[in-house]
Amino acid sequence: SVPVAALLPGAAWAQKPLVLGFSQVGAESEWRTANTESIKSAAKEAGIELKFSDAQQKQENQIKAIRSFIAQKVDVIAFSPVVESGWEPVLREAKAAKIPVVLTDRAVNTKDTSLYVTFMGSDFVEEGRKAGRWLVEKMKDTKGEVNIVELQGTVGSAPAIDRKKGFEEVIKADPKFKIIRSQTGDFTRAKGKEVMEAFLKAEGKKINVLYAHNDDMAIGAIQAIEEAGMKPAKDIVIISIDAVKGAFEAMIAGKLNVSVECSPLLGPQLMSAVKDIKAGKAVPKRIVTEEGIFPMEVAAKEFPNRKY
Ligand code: AHR
Repeated sequence: SVPVAALLPGAAWAQKPLVLGFSQVGAESEWRTANTESIKSAAKEAGIELKFSDAQQKQENQIKAIRSFIAQKVDVIAFSPVVESGWEPVLREAKAAKIPVVLTDRAVNTKDTSLYVTFMGSDFVEEGRKAGRWLVEKMKDTKGEVNIVELQGTVGSAPAIDRKKGFEEVIKADPKFKIIRSQTGDFTRAKGKEVMEAFLKAEGKKINVLYAHNDDMAIGAIQAIEEAGMKPAKDIVIISIDAVKGAFEAMIAGKLNVSVECSPLLGPQLMSAVKDIKAGKAVPKRIVTEEGIFPMEVAAKEFPNRKY
């Protein structure tokens, strides 16, 4: 049989679009929706054919999607791993098929760094530290215990592990800070509300601070706090991460104290890495996103500049 390339005129062959297989975590948060939108629009803009698959927060679905991308012989595979561990077998399959892999947003737990070309995304430990530093400063004159409840992200995910670690690293410097409850809210509003209701039932007015690993869980928790007859951001200081528009709205309404930025706008960076990889150019092993922190006092002024 004649190879397809031989049947195409030279120019058409040269223009054959790169094919990128992307396995997304799911649609659990406002952040994730913005991330998906960024990837889809950047692929379009870059003329890259995108095969997009939504794993609905399940690792098995991501593994299936990656295997299907390998079978389809895509040019590059990218994915945002729902949890950190358990990826080595499928990544070895991609390597054996000579398909380069890019990690976006979340890292995997492997010693064999040859299994992926680059990892682009935030420094989640630093995000946790920023949240901790803000709290230490805010409460520097408070005497007595500061009781904190923590809403963790998805169990086993890089942002849940790292944001907890960074936050604890900072607050442990002063024994007045105590995490009295810590549970997963799976990065969703519904679960954030549900778990906060349980925290309030168990601890009530003892709670001084809520640290939520993302804005969606904080927004769910705000509802629970209001339904319990308390004032969010006043009776309970609330810190969260992402700085999505929903968080800015909550800050402007005086219901959220601060949000640490985590940018979902990884699409353009991903597409340029895909092109560089296919062109044989060197790509840095780690590309860290630059990010800030937004307390409620600046929310109204910053809101018009927000892109997600
Ligand atoms: O991996 C990034 C995290 O995943 C975001 O903070 C959270 O909102 C999302 O679901």
